[in-house]
Amino acid sequence: MSSASTLITNIGELSTQDYSADAPVLKNAAVVFEGERISWIGPAGNAPAADEVVDAGGRAGLPGWVDSHTHLVFAGDRSAEFEARMAGQAYEAGGIAVTTEATRAASDYDLTRMLLARAAEAAAGGTTYLETKTGYGLSVEEERRHARIASTVADAVTFLGAHLVPDGADADEYTDLVCNDMLAAVRPYVQWADVFCEKGAFTEEQSRRVLQAARDAGLGLRVHGNQLGPGAGAQLAVEFAAASVDHVNHLSDDDVAALADSWSGWDSGAGVPGTVATCLPACDLSTRAPLAPARQLLDAGVQVALASNCNPGTSFTSSMAFCVATAVLQMGLTVQEAVRAATYGGALALRVHTGADRDGARAVGSLAVGHRADLQLLNAPSAAHLAYRPGMPLTGMVFRAGVQVP
Ligand code: NIG
Repeated sequence: MSSASTLITNIGELSTQDYSADAPVLKNAAVVFEGERISWIGPAGNAPAADEVVDAGGRAGLPGWVDSHTHLVFAGDRSAEFEARMAGQAYEAGGIAVTTEATRAASDYDLTRMLLARAAEAAAGGTTYLETKTGYGLSVEEERRHARIASTVADAVTFLGAHLVPDGADADEYTDLVCNDMLAAVRPYVQWADVFCEKGAFTEEQSRRVLQAARDAGLGLRVHGNQLGPGAGAQLAVEFAAASVDHVNHLSDDDVAALADSWSGWDSGAGVPGTVATCLPACDLSTRAPLAPARQLLDAGVQVALASNCNPGTSFTSSMAFCVATAVLQMGLTVQEAVRAATYGGALALRVHTGADRDGARAVGSLAVGHRADLQLLNAPSAAHLAYRPGMPLTGMVFRAGVQVP
């Protein structure tokens, strides 16, 4: 990695999402990268010289998106299921089996090619840190294969063997398989484990076993919870100190209180973070589910993330800009709250908001000296345009670890 320096100057509005700084939104700002890290941020007029200079031309700058929830290792097409849903059919978790069949039939080459294309699409939309999951393998060999392929492309990989009980399998026996042979097989390739705790997927008891086994294996924990109806997911996530519970469409007041409680000892960067509530607005729209109560969660003191949930069944988009626009226009978040949830919130949900991650990579999701040089420039003068001009192609330049994304 070169340590040449790059000065990005004349940034009209820089939304740093760095709440340890005096002014997280700077006017007429500049950023300097040294190799893959940020070495300086401040007023453009005070910027140091650098090897290369990029004139942002007054455009808005913000951290690259941190997409903390995707399912990108898959083959097959489920647009007919989507069309049927738009004609009134309900979403059922069983659609996962359709993708599982197609994905098992795809070669390593094809799965990798499709994954790379999806990751490139996300990067072109401003995503600079990408999580993805297994969960369309559902056998020891297939889950291992999908985890291995995912680990060659994504920044973080989550094991989701507990996505659906395969057709014909006994749920408890399958849960045992997930907790033992499957977990051992994927372990070299993954940092996280997840469970779909939902009616039609895994019960509270089965989810508890998966989380315990994953914790014993040294993995970080996340939960798919409260998507299709009320359930144990959110409170289970808090009980296990999971980094995130995702979906959260159907939360009781007690669920919100438990999530808020998990953040009581945390003070922006200091202390142990609680359980992030990750809202997936594109999925909510694509399944016509009630939008997750992001406003209520923020007001209660819960840290919220926005993620795309890009997958073939419930959310076939990796557009974080679309998620931000929806969060502002329909979920009651301010522009800066939505941008924060799609950057710093995602980093918190993946525990890469500060310091170094498990592989020694630098913090992402906010712009501060020492953090990874992940920056996007919008073809707009302010971040407000993301919601003010929804659906418009506003992504200008994207830098990941100091390198411009083509
Ligand atoms: O996050 N909820 C479970 N998993 C995915 C859906 C996957 C599918 O339908 O293929 C989700 O929405």
